Amino acid sequence: MSCSCSGLSRVLVAVAVALVSASSPCPQAWGPPGVQYGQPGRPVTLCCPGVSAGTPVYWFRDKEPRLLQGPDSGLGHELVLARAAFTDEGTYICQTLDGELGGTVTLKLGYPPARPVVSCQASDYENISCTWSPSQVSGLPTRYLTSYRKKMLPGTGHQRVSLSTGQPCPQDPPGAARCAIYWAEFWSQYRMNVTEVNPLGASTRLLDVSLQSILRPDPPEGLRVESVPGYPRRLHASWTYPSSWPRQPHFLLKFRLQYRPAQHPAWSMVEPVGLEEVITDAVAGLPHAVRVSARDFLDAGTWSAWSLEVWGTPSTGPLTNEIPDAGKIHTQLVDSTAPPRPSPQPDPRPLDHRDSLEQMVVLASLGIFSFLGLAAGALALGFWLRLRWGGKDAHQKPGFLALRIPADKLPGTPDLKTHKSFR
Ligand SMILES: *[C@@H]1O[C@H](CO)[C@@H](O)[C@H](O)[C@H]1NC(C)=O
Ligand SMILES: *[C@@H]1O[C@H](CO)[C@@H](O)[C@H](O)[C@H]1NC(C)=O
Repeated sequence: MSCSCSGLSRVLVAVAVALVSASSPCPQAWGPPGVQYGQPGRPVTLCCPGVSAGTPVYWFRDKEPRLLQGPDSGLGHELVLARAAFTDEGTYICQTLDGELGGTVTLKLGYPPARPVVSCQASDYENISCTWSPSQVSGLPTRYLTSYRKKMLPGTGHQRVSLSTGQPCPQDPPGAARCAIYWAEFWSQYRMNVTEVNPLGASTRLLDVSLQSILRPDPPEGLRVESVPGYPRRLHASWTYPSSWPRQPHFLLKFRLQYRPAQHPAWSMVEPVGLEEVITDAVAGLPHAVRVSARDFLDAGTWSAWSLEVWGTPSTGPLTNEIPDAGKIHTQLVDSTAPPRPSPQPDPRPLDHRDSLEQMVVLASLGIFSFLGLAAGALALGFWLRLRWGGKDAHQKPGFLALRIPADKLPGTPDLKTHKSFR
């Protein structure tokens, strides 16, 4: 039973092989020349190079005198291994009856491609970069064909999303497990096609990506943490945009900053507006770790990774003007570079020898006027300073955030309302 079956299948294989390979001597080998491929546990057919289809040949293992398959097999120039095993890997020799033609073939076993694992990233708003890795080791020479299509918006009356014609996703450098969609449109959806190809077949992974959802800037750079002389509870932190972020007025970043004293496990967090922040509640005398991360100003994508931590210790110098429970306005005034203000009280001594009612009235009204003037001046100065430095202490007064105008703190002075429409 089994004999007749295998005999029949051999005949069928022979017929099929004869039909397929009648025109070409051997199927075009993929990979290095002289190597043919198969899968363990499966039938493998080797083809004798340089011999036309149907020509009977002898098959030997290299350096073994034993005949593997004779010219009477009915298989022509092919050798069939019913069930390949890794012990079958190696070199085979084939030869026509007259010994004139023939050659050697190396058999290598491995597995067909499996769908690769693909992920796409964008650390700026111009280019999408996709990387991939095999989901299964095939053990065979492998290459990846990468292309993408843009999803077209459904036109009027069309319900289905159509795709533009495919474009290659260039691999740079060639053969790197990475390709890029250059100048991607911010709001468009793209369908990536990464196809793993090896001598035993091909397997495709499709992935839909949009710049707007995967955008993840690199961490901010150049973080500096400095003490503020005379202020034992302050640290001044500053940083710059990641260098990978192209600077355009309509694509800004926002930031968040975390800090914690040495040996404290929990981070405190603030969302600075510009490229600097004054921490006002540092623990005096303790080094603090500070780190920053960035995100698209309109919340596209996700937050960047944290920058490297930078350490800073508040100033231990003499306490100049800071009073522990001083109000915000007070600290703001002290913060400014304005010269020390004169005492608002008039000197009382000129009064001492005269006490006429008139002089009293004049002096009282003078006092009231000067007090009112000073109060108004202080208010105006305080208000101006708040507008100017509002961002620095924003975390202390969340209610004040609503009043802030962030645009003037940001480079490029954007018109935020046009942010979207420019994309
Ligand atoms: C995006 O790719 C283009 C083309 O290679 C390049 O000129 C541009 O600098 C890239 N943009 C960024 C932000 O790297
Ligand atoms: C993916 O790419 C492969 C190789 O270029 C191609 O044969 C296949 O048709 C593509 N599949 C889709 C769904 O676009």
